[in-house]
Amino acid sequence: MRVNVTVNGEQRRADDVWEGESLLFVLRERLGLPGSKNACEQGECGSCTVYLDGVPVCSCLVAAGQAQDREVRTVEGLAPAGGLDPVQEAFVEAGAVQCGFCTPGLVVAAHDLVERVPEPSDPEIREALAGNLCRCTGYEKILDAVRLAARKARR
Ligand code: FES
Ligand code: FES
Repeated sequence: MRVNVTVNGEQRRADDVWEGESLLFVLRERLGLPGSKNACEQGECGSCTVYLDGVPVCSCLVAAGQAQDREVRTVEGLAPAGGLDPVQEAFVEAGAVQCGFCTPGLVVAAHDLVERVPEPSDPEIREALAGNLCRCTGYEKILDAVRLAARKARR
């Protein structure tokens, strides 16, 4: 089947998509957007998080056909070309990136949080990131990064 989807503001088309193919596969393998990571393919780790019509979802759990005529925003679409979004800057400045495999999903989840909640409490941050696993950092630097991102967003 053919899937037409708006990705990061651009109309994109993927042909010969198999009915069971995930949105994550289409983004990475057909549309050349490898930012969203494939770590578990079971909805457990959050590394594949993207916005679908403005709502963060695990793109490994979304069938590509479900994205037909909808809007997807990936980690590649958060910042202007060549730049970093304040949330991405905060992850770098706080030292919240080690292997980086979890980072794109965490950045999208944190981006959503600071857009919705200007001054998130620690429990709100933990809840917002509960679906995103990181096996490297121990999470403290990630919490620092989200606190910093929220401060940057308020400026
Ligand atoms: S790859 Fe989608 S949740 Fe892990
Ligand atoms: S930085 Fe390696 S999994 Fe999070």
